[in-house]
Amino acid sequence: MRFDLLTIFPEFFVGPFEFGIIRRAKQQGQVEVNIHDLRSFTTDKHHIVDDRPFGGDDGMVLKPEPLFRAVEALRKPDEQTAVVLLTPQGRVFQQSEAQRFAHNFTQMILICGRYEGVDERVAQHIVTDEISIGDYVLTGGEIPAMVLVDAITRLLPNVLGSATSAVNDSFSTGLLDFPQYTRPASFNGIDVPEILLSGHHANIAKWRRREALRKTLKMRPDLIQALLARAALTAEEQRWIEETQQEN
Ligand SMILES: C[S@@+](CC[C@H](N)C(=O)[O-])C[C@H]1O[C@@H](n2cnc3c(N)ncnc32)[C@H](O)[C@@H]1O
Repeated sequence: MRFDLLTIFPEFFVGPFEFGIIRRAKQQGQVEVNIHDLRSFTTDKHHIVDDRPFGGDDGMVLKPEPLFRAVEALRKPDEQTAVVLLTPQGRVFQQSEAQRFAHNFTQMILICGRYEGVDERVAQHIVTDEISIGDYVLTGGEIPAMVLVDAITRLLPNVLGSATSAVNDSFSTGLLDFPQYTRPASFNGIDVPEILLSGHHANIAKWRRREALRKTLKMRPDLIQALLARAALTAEEQRWIEETQQEN
C-alpha cells in the first residue's frame, strides 16, 4: 500500500510512523508513507492554501486549486486509488472500513483539512471517501490520517507477525476481543483465571469465546444486537445472552 498524505503541517508526521509494526512494514516495503506539503502544489508567490469563506463567517477554508493539482499529480494510474478526505462530516471509520481499504486499494491519498475545513468542490469532485474518526471535532485531519494509516497497515498481508494475529481483534469477529492475561499468575492476591493455566486448548478457546461475549454484552451491547440481527450467534450463545440479561 502506498499512502500519500496531503497536509499544510508536514512536520506533524515526524515520528509517528517510526515505531513498531508500521516502521517494520515500511522497512520491509509492505507500505510506503509519503508526506506532501500542500503548499508545494500552489502556483502563487506566497504559496497560499486558504482563503475566507464565501458568504462571510469566521475562519479560513482550504482552497480547491492546490488540492485538485495535488491529487492529479499524486494519483498513480496503475494503482487502485482511494482519495480520502478526513472530515467530521464523513462516514465514521470502523474496522470493516479499514478492511475494505486494506483489501481493495493499493494507493490512498489522504487529505488533511484545517481551519473551517475544505472547499466543498474537493469532496464533490475528487474525493472517493469522506471519513470521520468519530463524532467530535479536532483542529486538523493529521491525527485522523495517522489513525487510518495505522489501522489499515496492520491489516495488510504479512504485516502482523502471525497470520492469525488480527483474527480475534475487537470488531473482526463482530465481538470485542477476549480478556488477556500474562505473568505473574498471581499478583497482589489477584489470580488469573485457572483455565488459562490448564493447557487444555479446546476449553481455553470455549472460555475465550464466552468471555468475549460477556465483555461485549457489558461494554458494547449494540454489537451483540447486530450479531443477533444477523443470526451470527449459536442457539446456545443466544440462550446464554438472554439468561445473562435477565440476571442483570
Ligand atoms: C476544525 S475542523 C473543521 C470542522 C468543520 N467546520 C465542521 O464543523 O465540520 C478542521 C479539519 O479537521 C479535520 N477533522 C476534525 N475532526 C475530525 C474528525 N472527527 N474526523 C476526521 N477529520 C476531522 C478535518 O480535516 C477538518 O477539515
